[in-house]
Amino acid sequence: MQNIYLIGMMGAGKTSTGQALARLLKMDFVDLDDEIEASTRLTINEIFAEKGEPFFRAEEKKALRRVALETQTVVATGGGIVLNPENVAQMKQTGRLIYLAASFEALWERVRDKRDRPLISVPDPRGTFLKLFEKRRPLYEASATGRIMTDGLKPEAVAQKIAGEFLKISRP
Ligand code: S3P
Repeated sequence: MQNIYLIGMMGAGKTSTGQALARLLKMDFVDLDDEIEASTRLTINEIFAEKGEPFFRAEEKKALRRVALETQTVVATGGGIVLNPENVAQMKQTGRLIYLAASFEALWERVRDKRDRPLISVPDPRGTFLKLFEKRRPLYEASATGRIMTDGLKPEAVAQKIAGEFLKISRP
């Protein structure tokens, strides 16, 4: 079976849903940010602060290339993965892309107190997050094979929906 790539904004629940989906389908699970932290031996915050975003994007692309060699793996991507069309092509060639959609307010509630999201550790975090949301939403929509609205749903419920609606595999 091919990989399953979960895409969507920060706060969409890609990691927790990915873990639940992997358990449900008995697949492996990889979080791309963890991969990047392991390969660079730096935290995401350190990468952005010390090396800058272009370095992060290059590492993200390399990490995706490595992970795309896997099979049967649920991959939680970072919110910016769709910014590079080559990443989208790579994911499409090696799996299905599921977009975890959520309303702006739900996403904001989930990320507003987090300290490990350097892109919104700025003077106007909400306004910055809104701009990111508006810019990226069409990219997620255009890239995905399936879309799940996650507002009000627990990760396990989102995983069930993905399995049922897009993969035609549903377990009790
Ligand atoms: C980013 C999202 C983060 C992480 C990095 C950049 C983004 O991942 O990759 O901070 O550009 O949206 P999550 O989506 O898992 O928070």
